[in-house]
Amino acid sequence: MHIAMIGSGYVGLVSGACFADFGHDVTCVDLNEQKIEALKKGEIPIFEPGLDALVADNAKAGRLTFTTDLAPAVAKADVVFIGVGTPSRRGDGHADLSYVYAAAAEIARAVEGFTVVVTKSTVPVGTGDEVERIIRETNPLADVIVVSNPEFLREGAAIDDFKRPDRIVVGIEDERAREVMTEIYRPLYLNQAPLMFTGRRTAELIKYAGNAFLAMKITFINEMADLCERTGANVQDVARGIGLDGRIGGKFLNAGPGYGGSCFPKDTLALVKTGQDYDSPLRLVEATVEVNNRRKRAMGRKVIAAAGGNVRGKTIGILGLTFKPNTDDMRDAPSIAIIQALQDAGATIRAYDPEGIEMAKLVVQNIDYAADAYDAANGADVLVLVTEWNEFRSLDLVRVKAQMNTPVFVDLRNVYRQKEVEAAGFSYHSVGRPVADEHADTPAVSE
Ligand SMILES: NC(=O)c1ccc[n+]([C@@H]2O[C@H](COP(=O)([O-])OP(=O)(O)OC[C@H]3O[C@@H](n4cnc5c(N)ncnc54)[C@H](O)[C@@H]3O)[C@@H](O)[C@H]2O)c1
Repeated sequence: MHIAMIGSGYVGLVSGACFADFGHDVTCVDLNEQKIEALKKGEIPIFEPGLDALVADNAKAGRLTFTTDLAPAVAKADVVFIGVGTPSRRGDGHADLSYVYAAAAEIARAVEGFTVVVTKSTVPVGTGDEVERIIRETNPLADVIVVSNPEFLREGAAIDDFKRPDRIVVGIEDERAREVMTEIYRPLYLNQAPLMFTGRRTAELIKYAGNAFLAMKITFINEMADLCERTGANVQDVARGIGLDGRIGGKFLNAGPGYGGSCFPKDTLALVKTGQDYDSPLRLVEATVEVNNRRKRAMGRKVIAAAGGNVRGKTIGILGLTFKPNTDDMRDAPSIAIIQALQDAGATIRAYDPEGIEMAKLVVQNIDYAADAYDAANGADVLVLVTEWNEFRSLDLVRVKAQMNTPVFVDLRNVYRQKEVEAAGFSYHSVGRPVADEHADTPAVSE
Protein backbone atom coordinates (compact mmCIF):
# COMPACT_ATOMS: atom_id res chain seq x y z
CA MET A 1 0.00 0.00 0.00
CA HIS A 2 1.13 3.55 -0.63
CA ILE A 3 0.81 5.71 2.45
CA ALA A 4 1.26 9.46 2.89
CA MET A 5 1.76 10.55 6.49
CA ILE A 6 0.97 14.24 6.91
CA GLY A 7 2.89 15.55 9.93
CA SER A 8 6.15 13.88 10.95
CA GLY A 9 6.26 14.57 14.68
CA TYR A 10 6.21 12.04 17.52
CA VAL A 11 3.14 10.27 16.13
CA GLY A 12 3.65 10.73 12.38
CA LEU A 13 7.27 9.67 12.34
CA VAL A 14 6.80 6.63 14.57
CA SER A 15 3.64 5.51 12.73
CA GLY A 16 5.22 6.15 9.33
CA ALA A 17 8.37 4.19 10.20
CA CYS A 18 6.31 1.30 11.64
CA PHE A 19 4.02 1.13 8.59
CA ALA A 20 7.13 1.06 6.39
CA ASP A 21 8.46 -1.74 8.56
CA PHE A 22 5.24 -3.68 7.85
CA GLY A 23 6.23 -3.48 4.17
CA HIS A 24 4.13 -0.50 3.03
CA ASP A 25 5.57 2.30 0.93
CA VAL A 26 5.47 5.40 3.17
CA THR A 27 6.14 9.07 2.47
CA CYS A 28 6.38 11.23 5.59
CA VAL A 29 5.41 14.83 4.87
CA ASP A 30 6.04 17.84 7.08
CA LEU A 31 5.89 21.61 6.67
CA ASN A 32 9.01 22.01 8.76
CA GLU A 33 11.90 22.06 6.29
CA GLN A 34 14.58 21.65 8.96
CA LYS A 35 12.88 18.51 10.22
CA ILE A 36 12.65 17.00 6.73
CA GLU A 37 16.22 17.94 5.83
CA ALA A 38 17.44 16.30 9.05
CA LEU A 39 15.40 13.15 8.36
CA LYS A 40 16.75 12.93 4.82
CA LYS A 41 20.26 12.94 6.30
CA GLY A 42 19.30 10.18 8.71
CA GLU A 43 19.10 12.49 11.75
CA ILE A 44 16.10 11.97 14.03
CA PRO A 45 14.67 15.28 15.28
CA ILE A 46 13.20 13.76 18.46
CA PHE A 47 14.40 11.29 21.08
CA GLU A 48 12.44 8.05 20.98
CA PRO A 49 14.17 4.76 21.84
CA GLY A 50 14.79 2.57 18.78
CA LEU A 51 13.46 5.10 16.28
CA ASP A 52 16.83 5.92 14.71
CA ALA A 53 17.47 2.28 13.72
CA LEU A 54 13.89 1.73 12.50
CA VAL A 55 14.00 4.86 10.33
CA ALA A 56 17.48 4.04 9.00
CA ASP A 57 16.55 0.44 8.08
CA ASN A 58 13.36 1.37 6.26
CA ALA A 59 14.84 4.41 4.53
CA LYS A 60 17.69 2.21 3.31
CA ALA A 61 15.21 -0.38 2.03
CA GLY A 62 13.51 2.39 0.05
CA ARG A 63 10.18 2.04 1.85
CA LEU A 64 10.39 5.29 3.83
CA THR A 65 10.98 8.71 2.30
CA PHE A 66 10.63 12.29 3.52
CA THR A 67 9.38 15.41 1.81
CA THR A 68 7.90 18.86 2.34
CA ASP A 69 5.97 18.46 -0.90
CA LEU A 70 2.54 17.15 0.06
CA ALA A 71 0.90 16.95 -3.38
CA PRO A 72 2.90 14.17 -5.08
CA ALA A 73 2.92 12.09 -1.90
CA VAL A 74 -0.87 12.36 -1.61
CA ALA A 75 -1.46 11.81 -5.34
CA LYS A 76 0.10 8.34 -5.29
CA ALA A 77 -1.27 7.34 -1.88
CA ASP A 78 -3.99 4.76 -1.24
CA VAL A 79 -4.21 6.01 2.33
CA VAL A 80 -3.40 9.47 3.68
CA PHE A 81 -2.95 9.82 7.44
CA ILE A 82 -3.36 13.19 9.11
CA GLY A 83 -0.93 13.20 12.07
CA VAL A 84 -0.50 16.94 12.62
CA GLY A 85 -0.64 18.63 16.03
CA THR A 86 -3.89 19.52 17.81
CA PRO A 87 -2.64 21.74 20.65
CA SER A 88 -4.85 23.68 23.05
CA ARG A 89 -6.24 26.78 21.42
CA ARG A 90 -4.95 29.87 23.17
CA GLY A 91 -7.59 31.48 25.31
CA ASP A 92 -10.29 28.86 25.57
CA GLY A 93 -8.64 25.42 25.73
CA HIS A 94 -10.55 23.95 22.78
CA ALA A 95 -8.45 21.74 20.51
CA ASP A 96 -6.87 23.96 17.84
CA LEU A 97 -7.94 22.21 14.63
CA SER A 98 -6.41 24.71 12.23
CA TYR A 99 -3.54 22.34 11.29
CA VAL A 100 -5.95 19.46 10.67
CA TYR A 101 -8.26 21.58 8.52
CA ALA A 102 -5.36 23.10 6.56
CA ALA A 103 -4.02 19.61 5.89
CA ALA A 104 -7.50 18.43 4.81
CA ALA A 105 -7.80 21.22 2.23
CA GLU A 106 -4.31 20.52 0.87
CA ILE A 107 -5.06 16.80 0.66
CA ALA A 108 -8.32 17.52 -1.20
CA ARG A 109 -6.46 19.48 -3.87
CA ALA A 110 -3.91 16.71 -4.39
CA VAL A 111 -5.82 13.39 -4.23
CA GLU A 112 -6.06 11.18 -7.28
CA GLY A 113 -8.24 8.08 -7.48
CA PHE A 114 -9.95 6.38 -4.55
CA THR A 115 -8.22 7.46 -1.35
CA VAL A 116 -8.88 6.81 2.32
CA VAL A 117 -8.11 9.86 4.46
CA VAL A 118 -7.47 8.87 8.06
CA THR A 119 -7.40 11.22 11.01
CA LYS A 120 -4.76 9.90 13.39
CA SER A 121 -4.41 13.17 15.29
CA THR A 122 -6.49 13.38 18.46
CA VAL A 123 -9.55 15.39 17.42
CA PRO A 124 -12.85 16.25 19.11
CA VAL A 125 -15.95 14.28 18.28
CA GLY A 126 -17.41 15.49 14.98
CA THR A 127 -14.09 16.62 13.46
CA GLY A 128 -14.23 13.82 10.87
CA ASP A 129 -17.51 15.32 9.57
CA GLU A 130 -15.81 18.68 9.15
CA VAL A 131 -12.73 17.15 7.48
CA GLU A 132 -15.08 15.41 5.05
CA ARG A 133 -16.99 18.65 4.40
CA ILE A 134 -13.74 20.56 3.71
CA ILE A 135 -12.56 17.89 1.28
CA ARG A 136 -15.90 17.79 -0.59
CA GLU A 137 -16.07 21.58 -0.74
CA THR A 138 -12.45 21.98 -1.90
CA ASN A 139 -12.62 19.20 -4.47
CA PRO A 140 -16.18 17.98 -5.22
CA LEU A 141 -14.80 15.29 -7.55
CA ALA A 142 -12.50 13.72 -4.97
CA ASP A 143 -13.25 10.02 -4.35
CA VAL A 144 -12.42 10.07 -0.68
CA ILE A 145 -13.60 8.34 2.48
CA VAL A 146 -12.74 9.92 5.80
CA VAL A 147 -11.89 7.54 8.63
CA SER A 148 -10.95 8.08 12.28
CA ASN A 149 -8.07 5.97 13.61
CA PRO A 150 -6.87 7.54 16.87
CA GLU A 151 -3.37 6.71 18.03
CA PHE A 152 -2.68 5.29 21.48
CA LEU A 153 1.13 5.05 21.47
CA ARG A 154 3.05 6.39 24.46
CA GLU A 155 6.21 8.39 24.00
CA GLY A 156 9.20 6.48 25.33
CA ALA A 157 7.67 3.14 24.31
CA ALA A 158 6.15 4.30 21.06
CA ILE A 159 7.45 1.66 18.67
CA ASP A 160 6.48 -1.23 20.90
CA ASP A 161 3.08 0.34 21.51
CA PHE A 162 2.53 0.78 17.79
CA LYS A 163 3.59 -2.76 16.94
CA ARG A 164 1.91 -4.44 19.89
CA PRO A 165 -1.18 -2.33 20.58
CA ASP A 166 -3.89 -3.33 23.04
CA ARG A 167 -6.36 -2.48 20.26
CA ILE A 168 -6.68 -0.60 17.00
CA VAL A 169 -9.78 1.57 16.83
CA VAL A 170 -11.14 2.41 13.40
CA GLY A 171 -14.17 4.65 12.96
CA ILE A 172 -15.81 4.48 9.55
CA GLU A 173 -19.09 5.64 8.11
CA ASP A 174 -18.61 3.96 4.72
CA GLU A 175 -17.77 0.28 4.30
CA ARG A 176 -15.43 0.80 1.31
CA ALA A 177 -12.66 1.87 3.69
CA ARG A 178 -12.90 -1.21 5.91
CA GLU A 179 -10.93 -3.43 3.56
CA VAL A 180 -8.19 -0.85 3.12
CA MET A 181 -7.80 -0.32 6.86
CA THR A 182 -7.73 -4.08 7.46
CA GLU A 183 -4.99 -4.41 4.85
CA ILE A 184 -2.94 -1.57 6.35
CA TYR A 185 -3.00 -3.20 9.80
CA ARG A 186 -2.84 -6.81 8.59
CA PRO A 187 0.50 -7.61 10.28
CA LEU A 188 -0.89 -6.53 13.65
CA TYR A 189 -4.15 -8.27 13.07
CA LEU A 190 -2.25 -11.51 12.38
CA ASN A 191 -0.47 -10.77 15.65
CA GLN A 192 -3.88 -10.93 17.37
CA ALA A 193 -4.20 -7.20 18.06
CA PRO A 194 -7.94 -6.58 18.14
CA LEU A 195 -9.04 -4.39 15.26
CA MET A 196 -12.17 -2.65 16.45
CA PHE A 197 -14.50 -1.07 13.92
CA THR A 198 -17.00 1.47 15.12
CA GLY A 199 -18.67 4.70 14.06
CA ARG A 200 -16.41 7.66 13.30
CA ARG A 201 -17.71 9.85 16.10
CA THR A 202 -17.41 6.96 18.54
CA ALA A 203 -13.78 6.38 17.56
CA GLU A 204 -13.00 10.06 18.10
CA LEU A 205 -14.59 9.97 21.53
CA ILE A 206 -12.86 6.71 22.56
CA LYS A 207 -9.50 8.48 22.38
CA TYR A 208 -10.58 11.33 24.66
CA ALA A 209 -12.45 9.04 27.03
CA GLY A 210 -9.33 6.87 27.36
CA ASN A 211 -7.00 9.76 28.09
CA ALA A 212 -9.46 11.40 30.47
CA PHE A 213 -9.90 8.17 32.38
CA LEU A 214 -6.15 7.68 32.77
CA ALA A 215 -5.67 11.32 33.82
CA MET A 216 -8.46 10.86 36.36
CA LYS A 217 -6.82 7.71 37.72
CA ILE A 218 -3.51 9.51 38.24
CA THR A 219 -5.28 12.45 39.84
CA PHE A 220 -7.24 10.14 42.11
CA ILE A 221 -4.09 8.55 43.51
CA ASN A 222 -2.45 11.95 43.83
CA GLU A 223 -5.30 13.16 46.02
CA MET A 224 -5.07 9.92 47.99
CA ALA A 225 -1.37 10.67 48.47
CA ASP A 226 -2.24 14.01 50.05
CA LEU A 227 -4.69 12.27 52.35
CA CYS A 228 -2.04 9.67 53.21
CA GLU A 229 0.37 12.43 54.18
CA ARG A 230 -2.19 13.88 56.57
CA THR A 231 -3.28 10.59 58.06
CA GLY A 232 -0.03 8.66 58.29
CA ALA A 233 -0.96 6.09 55.64
CA ASN A 234 1.28 4.97 52.80
CA VAL A 235 0.03 5.70 49.28
CA GLN A 236 2.18 3.07 47.60
CA ASP A 237 0.55 0.39 49.69
CA VAL A 238 -2.87 1.92 49.10
CA ALA A 239 -2.16 1.81 45.35
CA ARG A 240 -1.03 -1.79 45.54
CA GLY A 241 -3.94 -2.72 47.78
CA ILE A 242 -6.49 -1.36 45.32
CA GLY A 243 -4.53 -2.14 42.15
CA LEU A 244 -4.55 -5.88 42.88
CA ASP A 245 -8.30 -5.70 42.41
CA GLY A 246 -8.68 -6.70 38.77
CA ARG A 247 -11.50 -4.22 38.28
CA ILE A 248 -9.12 -1.36 39.17
CA GLY A 249 -5.72 -2.55 37.92
CA GLY A 250 -2.35 -1.41 39.21
CA LYS A 251 -1.24 0.81 36.32
CA PHE A 252 -1.37 4.60 36.48
CA LEU A 253 -1.53 4.49 40.25
CA ASN A 254 1.89 5.98 41.00
CA ALA A 255 1.48 9.15 43.05
CA GLY A 256 3.64 11.99 41.82
CA PRO A 257 3.80 15.65 40.88
CA GLY A 258 0.76 15.59 38.58
CA TYR A 259 0.40 14.52 34.97
CA GLY A 260 1.92 16.52 32.13
CA GLY A 261 2.99 15.85 28.58
CA SER A 262 1.73 16.47 25.11
CA CYS A 263 -1.62 14.68 25.52
CA PHE A 264 -3.33 14.47 28.92
CA PRO A 265 -3.39 18.21 29.75
CA LYS A 266 -4.67 19.36 26.35
CA ASP A 267 -6.99 16.39 25.80
CA THR A 268 -8.71 16.61 29.19
CA LEU A 269 -9.23 20.32 28.64
CA ALA A 270 -10.58 19.82 25.12
CA LEU A 271 -12.98 17.12 26.37
CA VAL A 272 -14.29 19.48 29.06
CA LYS A 273 -14.95 22.06 26.34
CA THR A 274 -16.74 19.49 24.16
CA GLY A 275 -18.92 18.54 27.14
CA GLN A 276 -19.81 22.20 27.68
CA ASP A 277 -20.56 22.74 23.98
CA TYR A 278 -22.97 19.82 23.96
CA ASP A 279 -24.52 20.83 27.28
CA SER A 280 -23.31 17.57 28.78
CA PRO A 281 -20.92 18.66 31.54
CA LEU A 282 -18.11 16.26 32.47
CA ARG A 283 -17.66 17.19 36.08
CA LEU A 284 -15.17 14.44 36.94
CA VAL A 285 -12.92 15.55 34.10
CA GLU A 286 -13.33 19.21 35.07
CA ALA A 287 -12.22 18.38 38.61
CA THR A 288 -9.28 16.36 37.26
CA VAL A 289 -8.05 19.32 35.22
CA GLU A 290 -8.35 21.71 38.13
CA VAL A 291 -6.79 19.42 40.74
CA ASN A 292 -3.88 18.58 38.48
CA ASN A 293 -3.18 22.21 37.61
CA ARG A 294 -3.04 23.17 41.26
CA ARG A 295 -0.88 20.19 42.10
CA LYS A 296 2.07 21.10 39.90
CA ARG A 297 2.69 24.42 41.63
CA ALA A 298 1.91 22.86 45.00
CA MET A 299 4.92 20.62 44.40
CA GLY A 300 7.03 23.79 44.29
CA ARG A 301 5.65 24.69 47.71
CA LYS A 302 6.43 21.18 48.94
CA VAL A 303 10.07 21.71 48.00
CA ILE A 304 10.10 25.10 49.73
CA ALA A 305 8.70 23.50 52.89
CA ALA A 306 11.40 20.81 52.73
CA ALA A 307 13.97 23.60 52.54
CA GLY A 308 12.66 25.00 55.84
CA GLY A 309 10.12 27.40 54.39
CA ASN A 310 12.42 29.68 52.42
CA VAL A 311 14.46 29.14 49.25
CA ARG A 312 15.52 32.74 48.58
CA GLY A 313 19.19 32.69 47.63
CA LYS A 314 19.27 28.89 47.83
CA THR A 315 20.19 26.50 45.04
CA ILE A 316 17.77 23.75 44.11
CA GLY A 317 19.07 20.80 42.10
CA ILE A 318 16.51 19.26 39.74
CA LEU A 319 16.82 15.70 38.42
CA GLY A 320 14.71 15.22 35.32
CA LEU A 321 12.87 17.85 33.29
CA THR A 322 10.88 15.95 30.66
CA PHE A 323 7.29 15.02 31.50
CA LYS A 324 8.31 11.38 31.78
CA PRO A 325 11.45 9.28 31.19
CA ASN A 326 12.65 8.12 27.78
CA THR A 327 11.48 11.14 25.86
CA ASP A 328 12.81 14.62 25.19
CA ASP A 329 9.27 16.02 25.20
CA MET A 330 8.86 19.02 27.50
CA ARG A 331 5.26 19.89 26.58
CA ASP A 332 3.36 20.72 29.79
CA ALA A 333 6.00 18.93 31.91
CA PRO A 334 5.38 19.32 35.67
CA SER A 335 9.00 20.50 35.98
CA ILE A 336 8.02 23.77 34.29
CA ALA A 337 5.52 24.80 36.99
CA ILE A 338 7.72 23.49 39.79
CA ILE A 339 10.76 25.42 38.57
CA GLN A 340 8.65 28.54 38.04
CA ALA A 341 7.31 28.35 41.61
CA LEU A 342 10.84 27.94 42.98
CA GLN A 343 12.26 30.76 40.87
CA ASP A 344 9.37 33.02 41.95
CA ALA A 345 10.37 32.27 45.54
CA GLY A 346 13.96 33.39 44.82
CA ALA A 347 15.73 30.07 44.25
CA THR A 348 18.50 29.38 41.77
CA ILE A 349 17.88 26.25 39.68
CA ARG A 350 20.53 23.77 38.68
CA ALA A 351 19.09 21.00 36.54
CA TYR A 352 20.01 17.86 34.66
CA ASP A 353 18.03 15.70 32.25
CA PRO A 354 19.46 12.86 30.14
CA GLU A 355 17.67 13.88 26.91
CA GLY A 356 15.49 16.93 27.54
CA ILE A 357 17.89 19.82 28.04
CA GLU A 358 17.71 21.18 24.48
CA MET A 359 13.89 21.15 24.54
CA ALA A 360 13.89 22.57 28.09
CA LYS A 361 15.92 25.56 26.94
CA LEU A 362 12.97 26.56 24.77
CA VAL A 363 10.44 26.59 27.64
CA VAL A 364 12.24 27.44 30.91
CA GLN A 365 14.73 30.24 31.40
CA ASN A 366 17.56 31.09 33.80
CA ILE A 367 18.64 27.56 34.60
CA ASP A 368 22.17 26.33 35.17
CA TYR A 369 22.36 23.05 33.31
CA ALA A 370 24.45 20.30 34.86
CA ALA A 371 26.43 17.54 33.15
CA ASP A 372 24.93 14.71 35.23
CA ALA A 373 22.98 13.98 38.40
CA TYR A 374 25.96 14.53 40.70
CA ASP A 375 26.76 17.80 39.01
CA ALA A 376 23.13 18.89 39.55
CA ALA A 377 23.59 18.22 43.27
CA ASN A 378 26.74 20.33 43.37
CA GLY A 379 26.25 23.15 45.89
CA ALA A 380 22.51 22.45 46.14
CA ASP A 381 20.49 23.06 49.27
CA VAL A 382 17.76 20.69 48.10
CA LEU A 383 17.82 17.98 45.43
CA VAL A 384 14.48 17.24 43.79
CA LEU A 385 13.82 14.13 41.73
CA VAL A 386 11.13 15.22 39.26
CA THR A 387 11.34 12.66 36.42
CA GLU A 388 12.18 9.02 37.17
CA TRP A 389 14.80 8.33 34.50
CA ASN A 390 16.50 4.97 35.15
CA GLU A 391 19.84 6.62 35.79
CA PHE A 392 18.34 8.39 38.84
CA ARG A 393 17.14 5.13 40.39
CA SER A 394 20.40 3.96 41.87
CA LEU A 395 22.39 7.07 42.67
CA ASP A 396 25.41 6.79 44.96
CA LEU A 397 23.74 8.69 47.78
CA VAL A 398 26.96 9.20 49.73
CA ARG A 399 28.49 10.85 46.68
CA VAL A 400 25.37 12.97 46.14
CA LYS A 401 25.46 14.15 49.75
CA ALA A 402 29.13 15.06 49.48
CA GLN A 403 28.24 17.45 46.60
CA MET A 404 25.45 19.21 48.41
CA ASN A 405 25.35 22.25 50.62
CA THR A 406 22.63 20.74 52.81
CA PRO A 407 21.43 17.15 52.42
CA VAL A 408 17.73 17.52 51.66
CA PHE A 409 16.20 15.14 49.11
CA VAL A 410 12.68 15.57 47.72
CA ASP A 411 11.65 12.48 45.78
CA LEU A 412 8.50 13.40 43.82
CA ARG A 413 8.35 9.94 42.20
CA ASN A 414 8.79 7.77 45.30
CA VAL A 415 11.78 6.06 43.71
CA TYR A 416 13.77 5.62 46.92
CA ARG A 417 13.12 3.99 50.25
CA GLN A 418 13.03 6.38 53.15
CA LYS A 419 15.29 4.26 55.36
CA GLU A 420 17.95 4.02 52.69
CA VAL A 421 18.09 7.77 52.01
CA GLU A 422 17.97 8.68 55.67
CA ALA A 423 20.76 6.20 56.37
CA ALA A 424 22.90 8.15 53.92
CA GLY A 425 22.34 11.24 56.08
CA PHE A 426 19.58 13.01 54.17
CA SER A 427 16.38 14.62 55.25
CA TYR A 428 14.00 12.76 52.89
CA HIS A 429 10.61 13.88 51.59
CA SER A 430 8.44 11.86 49.21
CA VAL A 431 4.83 11.80 48.03
CA GLY A 432 2.15 10.24 50.21
CA ARG A 433 4.61 8.44 52.49
CA PRO A 434 4.74 10.77 55.48
CA VAL A 435 6.50 8.83 58.22
CA ALA A 436 9.12 6.13 58.31
CA ASP A 437 7.06 3.09 57.48
CA GLU A 438 8.74 -0.13 58.52
CA HIS A 439 6.49 -2.23 56.30
CA ALA A 440 6.51 -0.14 53.16
CA ASP A 441 8.78 -1.52 50.56
CA THR A 442 6.78 -1.54 47.38
CA PRO A 443 9.13 -0.28 44.68
CA ALA A 444 7.82 2.44 42.41
CA VAL A 445 7.16 1.21 38.88
CA SER A 446 7.38 3.35 35.77
CA GLU A 447 4.29 3.34 33.53
N1 LIG B 1 2.76 12.56 21.19
C1 LIG B 1 2.03 11.54 21.61
O1 LIG B 1 2.44 10.76 22.48
C2 LIG B 1 0.67 11.28 21.01
C3 LIG B 1 0.04 10.06 21.24
C4 LIG B 1 -1.21 9.83 20.67
C5 LIG B 1 -1.82 10.80 19.90
N2 LIG B 1 -1.19 12.00 19.71
C6 LIG B 1 -1.84 13.00 18.86
O2 LIG B 1 -1.22 12.99 17.58
C7 LIG B 1 -1.19 14.30 17.03
C8 LIG B 1 0.24 14.69 16.70
O3 LIG B 1 0.99 14.73 17.90
P1 LIG B 1 2.58 14.84 17.90
O4 LIG B 1 3.01 14.71 19.31
O5 LIG B 1 3.14 13.93 16.87
O6 LIG B 1 2.75 16.36 17.41
P2 LIG B 1 4.08 17.08 16.88
O7 LIG B 1 3.90 18.51 17.18
O8 LIG B 1 5.29 16.35 17.37
O9 LIG B 1 4.04 16.86 15.28
C9 LIG B 1 3.12 17.48 14.43
C10 LIG B 1 3.85 17.76 13.12
O10 LIG B 1 2.90 18.15 12.13
C11 LIG B 1 3.52 19.10 11.28
N3 LIG B 1 2.47 19.80 10.50
C12 LIG B 1 1.54 20.68 10.93
N4 LIG B 1 0.74 21.05 9.91
C13 LIG B 1 1.15 20.37 8.81
C14 LIG B 1 0.73 20.32 7.44
N5 LIG B 1 -0.32 21.02 7.00
N6 LIG B 1 1.42 19.53 6.59
C15 LIG B 1 2.48 18.81 7.00
N7 LIG B 1 2.91 18.82 8.29
C16 LIG B 1 2.26 19.59 9.17
C17 LIG B 1 4.31 19.96 12.23
O11 LIG B 1 5.33 20.68 11.58
C18 LIG B 1 4.85 18.90 13.21
O12 LIG B 1 6.13 18.43 12.81
C19 LIG B 1 -1.86 15.19 18.06
O13 LIG B 1 -3.22 15.32 17.75
C20 LIG B 1 -1.71 14.41 19.35
O14 LIG B 1 -2.70 14.71 20.29
C21 LIG B 1 0.05 12.25 20.23
